[in-house]
Amino acid sequence: MSVKIAHRKAEHLEIAQDPLSQSSRSQLWEQLRFEPNALPELNLSQIDSSERFLDRRISCPLLISSMSGGIEHADKMNIHLAEAAAETNVALALGSMRITLEDQSGEASFKVGRYLTGQPLIANIGAAQIIGARGLDNALRCVELSEASGLFVHLNPLQEALQPEGDTDWVGISDAIEALVARSPVPVLIKEVGHGIGLSAARRLVQLGVKWIDVAGCGGTSWAQIEHSRHAEGASIFADWGIDTVTSLKSITAANLPVSLIASGGLRNGLELAKAIRLGGVLGGMAQPFLAPALESTAAVVKKINEIKDELRIVQFCTGSGDIASLRSAPWQC
Ligand SMILES: Cc1cc2nc3c(=O)[nH]c(=O)nc-3n(C[C@H](O)[C@H](O)[C@H](O)COP(=O)(O)O)c2cc1C
Repeated sequence: MSVKIAHRKAEHLEIAQDPLSQSSRSQLWEQLRFEPNALPELNLSQIDSSERFLDRRISCPLLISSMSGGIEHADKMNIHLAEAAAETNVALALGSMRITLEDQSGEASFKVGRYLTGQPLIANIGAAQIIGARGLDNALRCVELSEASGLFVHLNPLQEALQPEGDTDWVGISDAIEALVARSPVPVLIKEVGHGIGLSAARRLVQLGVKWIDVAGCGGTSWAQIEHSRHAEGASIFADWGIDTVTSLKSITAANLPVSLIASGGLRNGLELAKAIRLGGVLGGMAQPFLAPALESTAAVVKKINEIKDELRIVQFCTGSGDIASLRSAPWQC
């Protein structure tokens, strides 16, 4: 079974690099515009972009979103990502750890704690793996193995439905999330994988006790398209399925739910990160922008992170936002 998972993961990494795997749906970022501050009274070199996340202070509100682990070349990828997260002091999420639940050989790539210097590290497990009698044990094992400070549970019903070998029995998912949130020694963060979490699902998750939602909206990597491309040519009719990141963030923040948000799905630069923070994200997450750099080297990932941090700092300067708290209330049109 784990050979199958490894093969699938390798295919995913390959296909995710194809431009066709990116949703063509407009992300609406361009409709959001900061009001420029022509008199910022700030020194660009002294702008503070730091933020607190899971009890740690990181250099800027950026999360390297879940991608990989458990297969041979993903080991290197995760080391590059972890070393870069440490060097730049940003948060890191691991890819699905399902493979380690079936075969211990995949464990090494998830033990990246030794490359970090206190940055938040988030383990990752799929919804289908937390349902049923072994669900709680599965989840806790992922946290223990990676020594993570948080646990992502990814909700990907569309991806599973489109996968010939997908897990499509989701009966019991709500109870499983509720039990996990109640028993987990670390915060449980719920994410989608690029088709978004809408207001109704967010309300339900809050009722189940969830305190963190990563909206992972539509507009960036499309898992419907990636699954389609594994077996067929052309575009999937589901490629743009879901709720876009901007709409998801707007509706959940407007509802004033007692939940912290991570903004992700289609963020591609520091300007979009700034807009995502202004829209209510505690952090912004990006996966695809780090894929090619992670396959290359630690230095390539560091370069990409520094580019994003510089862009964010410029937005802060030009909106007169000396720190992230000020950016959250910077004048803008949306
Ligand atoms: C190569 C690749 C592998 C991914 N693997 C996982 C995974 O194992 N678990 C998960 O929760 N999300 C996974 N994702 C989804 C991302 O975490 C993210 O939610 C999604 O790609 C949308 O962000 P983006 O538009 O910045 O890529 C993966 C994304 C990519 C690009």
